[in-house]
Amino acid sequence: MKRILIFLLPILIIVAVVFTVFGIIQVKIEQEKLMDELYRKAKSVAETTEVSVQHIIKDNDKKAARRLVDSFQKRERLQGCVLYDQHGKVLAITERIAEWQAKDKAYLQQVVENRQVEAGMQKFKDLSIYSYAIPVMDDSEKVIGVVELIYDTSYVYTRLAELWRNISVTLSIIVLLIIIIVLLIQRQIFVVPVKKLTEWFHLYQKGEIDDKHPIKDSGELGKLASEVEQVALSLRVARKTIAGEAQARLKVDEQWTETKLRDLVLAKLGENALFVVSNREPYMHVLDEITGQAKWTRPASGVVTALDPVLRACGGTWVAHGSGNADKKFVNSKNKLGVPPDDNRYILKRVWLTKLEEEGYYYGFANEGLWPLCHVTHTRPVFREEDWEMYQKVNQKFADSILEELPAKNPFVFIQDYHFTLLPRMIKESRPDATIALFWHIPWPNPEVFSICPYYQEILDGMLGCDLIGFHVQFHCNNFLETANRLIESRVDTEKFSIVRAGRETVIKPFPISVDTVNSKKEGQESLNQKAEKIRIELELTDKIIGLGVERIDYTKGLIERVQAIDRFFEKYPQYKGKVVFVQLAAPSRTHIKRYHDLMGEIDELIEKTNWKYSDTNWQPIIYLKRHFSPEEILPYYKLADFCVVSSLHDGMNLVAKEFVSAKDDLRGSLILSRFTGAAKELEQAIQINPYSIEEFAAAIKQAIEMPREEQARRMAIMRKIVQENNVYKWAGSIITELTALKKEKA
Ligand code: F6P
Repeated sequence: MKRILIFLLPILIIVAVVFTVFGIIQVKIEQEKLMDELYRKAKSVAETTEVSVQHIIKDNDKKAARRLVDSFQKRERLQGCVLYDQHGKVLAITERIAEWQAKDKAYLQQVVENRQVEAGMQKFKDLSIYSYAIPVMDDSEKVIGVVELIYDTSYVYTRLAELWRNISVTLSIIVLLIIIIVLLIQRQIFVVPVKKLTEWFHLYQKGEIDDKHPIKDSGELGKLASEVEQVALSLRVARKTIAGEAQARLKVDEQWTETKLRDLVLAKLGENALFVVSNREPYMHVLDEITGQAKWTRPASGVVTALDPVLRACGGTWVAHGSGNADKKFVNSKNKLGVPPDDNRYILKRVWLTKLEEEGYYYGFANEGLWPLCHVTHTRPVFREEDWEMYQKVNQKFADSILEELPAKNPFVFIQDYHFTLLPRMIKESRPDATIALFWHIPWPNPEVFSICPYYQEILDGMLGCDLIGFHVQFHCNNFLETANRLIESRVDTEKFSIVRAGRETVIKPFPISVDTVNSKKEGQESLNQKAEKIRIELELTDKIIGLGVERIDYTKGLIERVQAIDRFFEKYPQYKGKVVFVQLAAPSRTHIKRYHDLMGEIDELIEKTNWKYSDTNWQPIIYLKRHFSPEEILPYYKLADFCVVSSLHDGMNLVAKEFVSAKDDLRGSLILSRFTGAAKELEQAIQINPYSIEEFAAAIKQAIEMPREEQARRMAIMRKIVQENNVYKWAGSIITELTALKKEKA
């Protein structure tokens, strides 16, 4: 638009100037013409009148004088006539201009003395008057009086204003025509061909069409099109080659790595073909409170921990809520940026939400409704109609944002979590060719529990827009199948583990999520050990047995029970006072919700009480570090810990358990793991607990501390093997393999 304005503005200025000058000249000519006509008319009338006036004055015929001036009473422009004697005294005046009598008329003397006509413009009341005064002479050429004719000239100005109006209307029409013509021309010669070329490029390089480029022009645009054609061809060939090579490299029995996942995605989906959606973004830009500078961080989130390595490995686009206060500074015109910010491997598209949307959709419906509904931790879910409305609105907003990005044919969309239950159906309705998977990162409750949600029907219907729904464990799949079976009209196929609703089939399968066991080892052991030792000194942990907890502050994590168990542990086993220290890393989370805010206070109070109860001048049992820790910062704590506690009251998987095991390459340390986590199904060698049983919990801490090194190593080796073999690349690979198989089946 700016370019068009730069082009249009000079033309419009020239046209406007030409028209204005032309208008001024036109008006001037017209004005002169009208005044000249008036002068002639006045002259002729005055000369005719002068003859009769000569006799009237000579004979002092007052009646004739009256008749004469009255004869002008009804004329339209000629307002009237005045007869004067040779001294300028009024003899007779037309009635309607009677007030003219009082006007000072110095020019009359000129008329008498110079025996000449005096004519000109004058102001009279609010009228613009033209007066024409002619001397009246007797036969001896002696001036005996004056006749004056008075004209109203306002019609001249009305005519001139009309002329200006016509000129302005013509000018506006011409300006409008110029704008329309320029826009049409530029659209025809620039916008349309460039649009066609862009569309062609998009489809051709992906191998979706084989047509020639659409530009017929042999000029500069044609040359550009031919360059674009070469690039498109090279890209297309490169894609095919990469996909072919990837296919050849794929070995089924090999351990899952970043490379193997990349090869699988390239071979099955093609380059950058994966579209991931989640609420939480993997990289967030925030303003540093101290320096005021924007910096990027990685949020504390299981979804991010699991999916970032997947996207790094295979590229693609991740669509998420841009929630960082400096996020807007770092996106391009389409709200996208390359991430990780220091090593662009995939695209992050940020979706902006208003405070009201975030409040209703994220804090309200997702986290005060669905989160406590699915985690059976006895926190009552809250369902508000206004939150549900926002939740629907935001799901639609994300659907629109994703639909804008999807390629022309058969895209793959991978949706994360309970924030987007309506999204699968919304996308499927616009793009039935899209293959859609949803991964549910939290537990799925039984039908009785789920049915208390007033919107269960819409939620299940939305989710069943998917081709595949994944849960961490079979138990949650079973709960989901049973929920659909009991609560909505559908057919459950227990052989295939699928649900058919309105003729569409959705497969339900477990895919236990995991961690990146490959790249987490990239940092040298030496530097990690150094960092760990630094922490040991800083926190005064030398010679201490170190326990560790790493959590978001959430009521599902069993943090209160953990502190109570530590308290009970020191009560029951006082020999460990001064010897054992528990380090808790805790990231504040969802603090805008009252339950979370209150929980922070409860934990602070409980830790303070426990520390006060047991600590002495050299030792305190719990070190509570309440802030966000990046994955790089957490790693040395895992190294340092002698035991790690995961005491969730209910958890879909829990990746801290797997991260801890993955970090322990010296096979040292034990894991205390709640049996209510998904991870407990895989990590059977952990010391499994019921976190609600404080006695059992305290005894588990003792068992972890006293476990002989060989036993620790034996258990850790088995758990590490399980995590390594079932890492996050395998998780993503299994989902993509399943999806492509489903797609083939559909075709
Ligand atoms: O699956 C649960 C989850 O979405 C995980 O990503 C993460 O553990 C947690 O919730 C993060 O919560 P939030 O994104 O609301 O901070």
